[in-house]
Amino acid sequence: MQRVVIVQRGVRGEQVHCLYTHTVYYSGGKGRKMKFFIDTANIDEIKKGLELGMVDGVTTNPSLVAKEPRPFLDILKEICAIVDGPVSAEVVSLEAEGMVAEARDLVKVADNIVIKIPMIEEGLKAVKRLAAEDIRTNVTLIFSSAQALLAAKAGATYVSPFVGRLDDISSNGMELVSEIMTMYENYNYNTEVIVASVRSPMHVVEAAMIGADIATIPYKVIAQLAKHPLTDIGMEQFLADWEKRQK
Ligand code: E4P
Repeated sequence: MQRVVIVQRGVRGEQVHCLYTHTVYYSGGKGRKMKFFIDTANIDEIKKGLELGMVDGVTTNPSLVAKEPRPFLDILKEICAIVDGPVSAEVVSLEAEGMVAEARDLVKVADNIVIKIPMIEEGLKAVKRLAAEDIRTNVTLIFSSAQALLAAKAGATYVSPFVGRLDDISSNGMELVSEIMTMYENYNYNTEVIVASVRSPMHVVEAAMIGADIATIPYKVIAQLAKHPLTDIGMEQFLADWEKRQK
């Protein structure tokens, strides 16, 4: 079952701008839950996210790993040991052969490793071969619905549309997510959509409005999601009133 929701953003004065239409899906009914992955290779951030109960998986990429001083495989092993969920590790080869070889090594690290493959032609070849070996893949650097369609056809377990980087160049990242969800629903693809390159709490809320399977979120944004200034003001007031009553 599906219904169409008009999402309105950018209210200025009396005028309401309708930026896009989202189709909301109910696959699996009430039991379907949005998953949060944390987008980092930093162990402390992952531990903080786990403590909050907000980490269902982890995504890393070469830039995130480069920020950490330890060897890549050591970091991966530790992440996989503390997180009970998929952990994406990215290959750096540019040819399918090399990607498949890297993937075969990376999956030896732990059972929960998912291989992140770039959305290029060689990447599609690698995804097809890895799917045949039951190795899970996350096709990354997705910037168009056509790319997402090819990734699903190749047998990707996940696709990662980069909403923030699209917004950065005045495109609409969330519209892309909506298109991908529609295409996958039309053909019942099992490929899950990870909303990536998340920059703000609104990206996460909009991903949930669309019904995206997963959002991969930097720790800073997970913390921002919990905050509201009226909550802080309300707490302060409650505590002040309680103090007065004690006197
Ligand atoms: C996704 O898996 C990527 O690691 C990530 O979301 C990229 O985000 P960025 O655009 O903030 O680098």
